[in-house]
Amino acid sequence: MTIYNLGSINADYFYAVPHLPAAGETLAATSLGKGLGGKGANMSVAAARAGAHVRHIGAVGPDGGWMVDRLMEYGVDTRAIARLDTPTGHAIINVDAAGENAIVLYPGTNRCITDQQIGLVLSEAAAGGTLMFQNETNGQRYAAETAKSLGMRVICCPAPYETSALEEVISFADLVILNEVEARQHRDATGRPIGEGTNLKVITTLGAKGCVLMDNMTGQVQEFGAPQVTPVDTTGAGDTFAGYIAAGLDRGHSLEQSISLAVRAAALMVTRHGTADVIPDLKDVQDARF
Ligand code: ADP
Ligand code: NA
Repeated sequence: MTIYNLGSINADYFYAVPHLPAAGETLAATSLGKGLGGKGANMSVAAARAGAHVRHIGAVGPDGGWMVDRLMEYGVDTRAIARLDTPTGHAIINVDAAGENAIVLYPGTNRCITDQQIGLVLSEAAAGGTLMFQNETNGQRYAAETAKSLGMRVICCPAPYETSALEEVISFADLVILNEVEARQHRDATGRPIGEGTNLKVITTLGAKGCVLMDNMTGQVQEFGAPQVTPVDTTGAGDTFAGYIAAGLDRGHSLEQSISLAVRAAALMVTRHGTADVIPDLKDVQDARF
Protein backbone atom coordinates (compact mmCIF):
# COMPACT_ATOMS: atom_id res chain seq x y z
CA MET A 1 0.00 0.00 0.00
CA THR A 2 1.04 3.62 0.21
CA ILE A 3 2.16 5.60 3.23
CA TYR A 4 0.94 9.19 3.01
CA ASN A 5 3.16 11.36 5.17
CA LEU A 6 1.86 14.86 5.84
CA GLY A 7 5.11 16.42 6.89
CA SER A 8 7.51 19.30 7.08
CA ILE A 9 10.31 19.92 4.63
CA ASN A 10 13.03 22.17 5.99
CA ALA A 11 16.34 23.50 4.83
CA ASP A 12 18.80 23.29 7.72
CA TYR A 13 21.57 25.89 7.58
CA PHE A 14 24.36 25.13 10.02
CA TYR A 15 26.60 28.07 10.90
CA ALA A 16 29.79 27.35 12.83
CA VAL A 17 30.35 30.29 15.19
CA PRO A 18 33.03 30.90 17.85
CA HIS A 19 30.28 31.50 20.42
CA LEU A 20 26.50 31.93 20.26
CA PRO A 21 25.68 35.55 19.35
CA ALA A 22 24.57 37.86 22.16
CA ALA A 23 21.89 40.55 21.82
CA GLY A 24 23.06 43.26 19.44
CA GLU A 25 26.15 41.31 18.39
CA THR A 26 27.19 40.72 14.78
CA LEU A 27 29.20 37.58 14.40
CA ALA A 28 30.98 36.00 11.42
CA ALA A 29 30.40 32.30 10.91
CA THR A 30 33.48 30.25 10.03
CA SER A 31 31.56 27.76 7.88
CA LEU A 32 28.15 27.03 6.46
CA GLY A 33 26.58 23.64 5.96
CA LYS A 34 23.24 23.08 4.27
CA GLY A 35 21.07 20.01 4.50
CA LEU A 36 17.60 18.60 4.04
CA GLY A 37 15.71 18.50 7.33
CA GLY A 38 12.33 18.59 8.98
CA LYS A 39 10.82 15.69 10.90
CA GLY A 40 8.43 15.10 8.03
CA ALA A 41 11.13 14.78 5.38
CA ASN A 42 13.20 12.56 7.67
CA MET A 43 10.28 10.21 8.30
CA SER A 44 9.49 9.98 4.59
CA VAL A 45 13.09 9.10 3.82
CA ALA A 46 13.18 6.54 6.66
CA ALA A 47 10.00 4.79 5.50
CA ALA A 48 11.24 4.80 1.89
CA ARG A 49 14.64 3.39 2.94
CA ALA A 50 12.72 0.73 4.85
CA GLY A 51 11.20 -0.28 1.53
CA ALA A 52 7.78 1.39 1.59
CA HIS A 53 6.07 3.43 -1.08
CA VAL A 54 5.85 6.86 0.56
CA ARG A 55 3.94 9.79 -0.84
CA HIS A 56 4.98 12.98 0.94
CA ILE A 57 2.23 15.59 1.39
CA GLY A 58 3.93 18.93 1.89
CA ALA A 59 4.87 22.24 0.37
CA VAL A 60 7.98 24.15 -0.66
CA GLY A 61 8.62 27.62 -2.03
CA PRO A 62 10.67 28.88 -4.97
CA ASP A 63 13.85 28.11 -2.97
CA GLY A 64 12.83 24.51 -2.31
CA GLY A 65 13.34 22.73 -5.61
CA TRP A 66 16.59 21.08 -4.46
CA MET A 67 14.79 19.61 -1.44
CA VAL A 68 12.14 17.99 -3.61
CA ASP A 69 14.90 16.65 -5.86
CA ARG A 70 16.71 15.25 -2.83
CA LEU A 71 13.56 13.52 -1.56
CA MET A 72 12.96 12.05 -4.99
CA GLU A 73 16.55 10.84 -5.16
CA TYR A 74 15.96 9.15 -1.79
CA GLY A 75 13.00 7.24 -3.16
CA VAL A 76 10.12 9.37 -1.90
CA ASP A 77 7.08 9.98 -4.13
CA THR A 78 7.10 13.79 -4.34
CA ARG A 79 4.10 14.36 -6.62
CA ALA A 80 1.95 15.64 -3.72
CA ILE A 81 4.41 18.36 -2.69
CA ALA A 82 2.91 21.75 -3.59
CA ARG A 83 5.05 24.55 -5.02
CA LEU A 84 4.09 27.87 -3.43
CA ASP A 85 5.30 31.47 -3.48
CA THR A 86 6.21 31.61 0.23
CA PRO A 87 9.78 30.77 1.30
CA THR A 88 10.32 27.13 2.23
CA GLY A 89 10.58 26.31 5.93
CA HIS A 90 14.12 26.60 7.19
CA ALA A 91 16.19 26.49 10.33
CA ILE A 92 19.15 28.70 11.11
CA ILE A 93 21.29 26.60 13.38
CA ASN A 94 24.21 28.32 15.08
CA VAL A 95 26.67 25.85 16.55
CA ASP A 96 29.45 27.06 18.83
CA ALA A 97 32.88 25.52 19.39
CA ALA A 98 31.56 23.39 22.27
CA GLY A 99 28.74 21.98 20.09
CA GLU A 100 26.06 24.01 21.88
CA ASN A 101 23.42 25.32 19.48
CA ALA A 102 20.79 28.06 19.16
CA ILE A 103 18.14 27.64 16.47
CA VAL A 104 15.72 29.96 14.69
CA LEU A 105 13.01 28.03 12.87
CA TYR A 106 10.95 29.63 10.11
CA PRO A 107 7.95 27.40 9.32
CA GLY A 108 7.33 28.97 5.89
CA THR A 109 5.47 26.75 3.44
CA ASN A 110 5.10 23.99 6.05
CA ARG A 111 2.22 25.98 7.54
CA CYS A 112 0.68 26.77 4.13
CA ILE A 113 -0.63 23.31 3.29
CA THR A 114 -4.35 23.49 2.59
CA ASP A 115 -7.13 21.04 3.41
CA GLN A 116 -7.97 21.14 -0.30
CA GLN A 117 -4.47 19.91 -1.20
CA ILE A 118 -4.70 17.14 1.40
CA GLY A 119 -8.20 16.15 0.30
CA LEU A 120 -7.12 15.86 -3.32
CA VAL A 121 -4.20 13.60 -2.45
CA LEU A 122 -6.16 11.43 -0.04
CA SER A 123 -8.95 11.01 -2.59
CA GLU A 124 -6.56 8.51 -4.22
CA ALA A 125 -5.92 6.69 -0.97
CA ALA A 126 -7.62 3.43 -0.12
CA ALA A 127 -8.57 1.47 2.97
CA GLY A 128 -5.50 -0.25 4.36
CA GLY A 129 -3.19 2.61 3.46
CA THR A 130 -1.43 4.64 6.12
CA LEU A 131 -1.47 8.31 7.02
CA MET A 132 1.26 9.63 9.26
CA PHE A 133 1.97 13.18 10.41
CA GLN A 134 3.91 15.22 12.93
CA ASN A 135 3.29 18.66 14.39
CA GLU A 136 5.40 20.81 12.06
CA THR A 137 2.73 21.45 9.40
CA ASN A 138 -0.91 22.41 9.38
CA GLY A 139 -3.80 20.32 8.12
CA GLN A 140 -3.33 17.41 10.53
CA ARG A 141 -6.90 17.41 11.79
CA TYR A 142 -8.44 17.36 8.33
CA ALA A 143 -5.98 14.70 7.16
CA ALA A 144 -6.56 12.49 10.19
CA GLU A 145 -10.33 12.73 10.00
CA THR A 146 -10.34 12.03 6.26
CA ALA A 147 -7.94 9.10 6.55
CA LYS A 148 -9.94 7.59 9.40
CA SER A 149 -13.16 7.82 7.38
CA LEU A 150 -11.39 6.04 4.48
CA GLY A 151 -10.38 3.17 6.75
CA MET A 152 -6.68 4.05 6.71
CA ARG A 153 -4.23 3.45 9.53
CA VAL A 154 -3.44 6.75 11.26
CA ILE A 155 -0.06 7.25 12.94
CA CYS A 156 0.44 10.42 14.94
CA CYS A 157 3.89 11.66 15.95
CA PRO A 158 3.06 14.68 18.14
CA ALA A 159 6.40 16.44 17.87
CA PRO A 160 7.03 19.21 18.72
CA TYR A 161 4.51 18.64 21.50
CA GLU A 162 1.48 20.94 21.76
CA THR A 163 -1.54 19.85 23.80
CA SER A 164 -4.23 21.49 21.66
CA ALA A 165 -2.75 20.11 18.41
CA LEU A 166 -2.66 16.59 19.83
CA GLU A 167 -6.18 16.77 21.24
CA GLU A 168 -7.54 17.75 17.82
CA VAL A 169 -6.33 14.53 16.23
CA ILE A 170 -6.11 11.93 18.95
CA SER A 171 -9.57 10.45 18.41
CA PHE A 172 -8.62 9.60 14.80
CA ALA A 173 -5.28 7.97 15.59
CA ASP A 174 -4.54 4.26 15.84
CA LEU A 175 -0.98 4.68 17.01
CA VAL A 176 0.91 7.51 18.68
CA ILE A 177 4.70 7.56 18.67
CA LEU A 178 6.44 10.05 20.91
CA ASN A 179 9.56 10.40 23.03
CA GLU A 180 9.86 10.52 26.79
CA VAL A 181 10.03 14.32 26.91
CA GLU A 182 6.84 14.70 24.88
CA ALA A 183 5.08 12.07 27.02
CA ARG A 184 6.05 14.02 30.13
CA GLN A 185 4.87 17.29 28.59
CA HIS A 186 1.50 15.65 27.94
CA ARG A 187 1.21 14.34 31.50
CA ASP A 188 2.20 17.72 32.94
CA ALA A 189 -0.31 19.55 30.75
CA THR A 190 -3.29 17.22 31.13
CA GLY A 191 -2.60 15.17 34.25
CA ARG A 192 -2.96 11.87 32.38
CA PRO A 193 -1.05 9.60 30.02
CA ILE A 194 -1.82 9.77 26.29
CA GLY A 195 -4.88 7.92 25.12
CA GLU A 196 -6.16 7.01 28.57
CA GLY A 197 -9.68 5.66 28.13
CA THR A 198 -9.23 5.06 24.38
CA ASN A 199 -8.23 2.11 22.18
CA LEU A 200 -5.00 3.76 21.15
CA LYS A 201 -1.64 2.08 21.06
CA VAL A 202 1.15 4.35 22.26
CA ILE A 203 4.88 3.89 21.75
CA THR A 204 7.10 5.97 23.99
CA THR A 205 10.73 5.99 22.89
CA LEU A 206 13.36 6.02 25.63
CA GLY A 207 16.63 6.76 23.83
CA ALA A 208 19.32 4.18 24.65
CA LYS A 209 16.75 2.29 26.74
CA GLY A 210 14.62 1.42 23.69
CA CYS A 211 10.88 1.95 23.92
CA VAL A 212 7.69 0.89 25.62
CA LEU A 213 4.42 -0.04 23.92
CA MET A 214 1.18 0.59 25.78
CA ASP A 215 -2.02 -0.94 24.45
CA ASN A 216 -4.78 1.12 26.01
CA MET A 217 -7.43 -1.37 24.98
CA THR A 218 -5.92 -4.36 26.77
CA GLY A 219 -3.85 -2.44 29.29
CA GLN A 220 -0.85 -4.49 28.19
CA VAL A 221 2.59 -2.88 28.44
CA GLN A 222 5.60 -4.26 26.55
CA GLU A 223 9.19 -3.10 26.78
CA PHE A 224 11.66 -3.33 23.92
CA GLY A 225 15.37 -2.84 24.56
CA ALA A 226 17.66 -1.02 22.13
CA PRO A 227 20.82 -2.62 20.73
CA GLN A 228 23.90 -1.31 22.52
CA VAL A 229 25.86 1.08 20.34
CA THR A 230 28.24 4.01 20.80
CA PRO A 231 26.21 7.04 19.74
CA VAL A 232 27.93 9.79 17.75
CA ASP A 233 24.88 11.84 16.66
CA THR A 234 21.36 11.16 17.90
CA THR A 235 19.57 13.58 15.54
CA GLY A 236 16.95 11.82 13.50
CA ALA A 237 16.82 8.72 15.72
CA GLY A 238 13.16 9.21 16.56
CA ASP A 239 12.29 10.04 12.94
CA THR A 240 14.07 6.91 11.71
CA PHE A 241 12.24 4.87 14.31
CA ALA A 242 8.81 6.24 13.29
CA GLY A 243 9.47 5.78 9.57
CA TYR A 244 10.45 2.16 10.13
CA ILE A 245 7.33 1.52 12.22
CA ALA A 246 5.08 2.89 9.48
CA ALA A 247 6.90 0.82 6.84
CA GLY A 248 6.71 -2.36 8.93
CA LEU A 249 2.97 -2.03 9.52
CA ASP A 250 2.44 -1.18 5.85
CA ARG A 251 4.24 -4.39 4.90
CA GLY A 252 1.78 -6.33 7.07
CA HIS A 253 4.11 -6.97 9.99
CA SER A 254 2.78 -6.91 13.53
CA LEU A 255 3.48 -3.87 15.67
CA GLU A 256 5.90 -5.94 17.78
CA GLN A 257 7.83 -7.09 14.69
CA SER A 258 7.87 -3.53 13.38
CA ILE A 259 9.25 -2.24 16.67
CA SER A 260 11.98 -4.88 16.71
CA LEU A 261 13.21 -3.67 13.33
CA ALA A 262 12.73 0.02 14.18
CA VAL A 263 14.95 -0.13 17.28
CA ARG A 264 17.69 -1.67 15.13
CA ALA A 265 17.32 1.00 12.45
CA ALA A 266 17.37 3.80 15.05
CA ALA A 267 20.40 2.31 16.82
CA LEU A 268 22.29 2.23 13.55
CA MET A 269 21.21 5.82 12.88
CA VAL A 270 22.79 7.13 16.10
CA THR A 271 26.16 5.67 15.03
CA ARG A 272 26.13 7.97 11.98
CA HIS A 273 26.72 11.71 11.65
CA GLY A 274 23.96 13.53 9.77
CA THR A 275 20.24 13.28 9.20
CA ALA A 276 18.21 12.38 6.09
CA ASP A 277 21.32 11.60 4.03
CA VAL A 278 22.42 8.80 6.34
CA ILE A 279 19.18 7.12 7.42
CA PRO A 280 19.95 3.41 7.04
CA ASP A 281 18.20 1.24 4.49
CA LEU A 282 16.62 -2.13 5.15
CA LYS A 283 19.66 -4.10 4.07
CA ASP A 284 22.00 -2.11 6.39
CA VAL A 285 19.59 -2.74 9.25
CA GLN A 286 19.29 -6.44 8.55
CA ASP A 287 23.08 -6.78 8.20
CA ALA A 288 23.93 -4.73 11.30
CA ARG A 289 25.76 -6.87 13.82
CA PHE A 290 24.29 -6.06 17.19
P1 ADP B 1 14.10 11.35 19.78
O1 ADP B 1 15.13 11.12 18.74
O2 ADP B 1 12.77 11.71 19.23
O3 ADP B 1 14.53 12.27 20.90
P2 ADP B 1 14.73 8.96 21.37
O4 ADP B 1 15.93 9.67 21.90
O5 ADP B 1 13.85 8.30 22.37
O6 ADP B 1 13.82 9.92 20.50
O7 ADP B 1 15.24 7.89 20.31
C1 ADP B 1 14.36 7.20 19.46
C2 ADP B 1 14.78 5.75 19.35
O8 ADP B 1 16.12 5.72 18.82
C3 ADP B 1 14.84 4.99 20.66
O9 ADP B 1 13.60 4.38 20.96
C4 ADP B 1 15.91 3.96 20.37
O10 ADP B 1 15.33 2.85 19.71
C5 ADP B 1 16.85 4.69 19.42
N1 ADP B 1 17.99 5.27 20.14
C6 ADP B 1 18.14 6.55 20.55
N2 ADP B 1 19.31 6.72 21.20
C7 ADP B 1 19.91 5.52 21.22
C8 ADP B 1 21.15 5.00 21.76
N3 ADP B 1 22.00 5.80 22.40
N4 ADP B 1 21.44 3.70 21.57
C9 ADP B 1 20.59 2.88 20.90
N5 ADP B 1 19.41 3.29 20.39
C10 ADP B 1 19.07 4.59 20.54
NA1 NA C 1 22.63 10.34 13.40
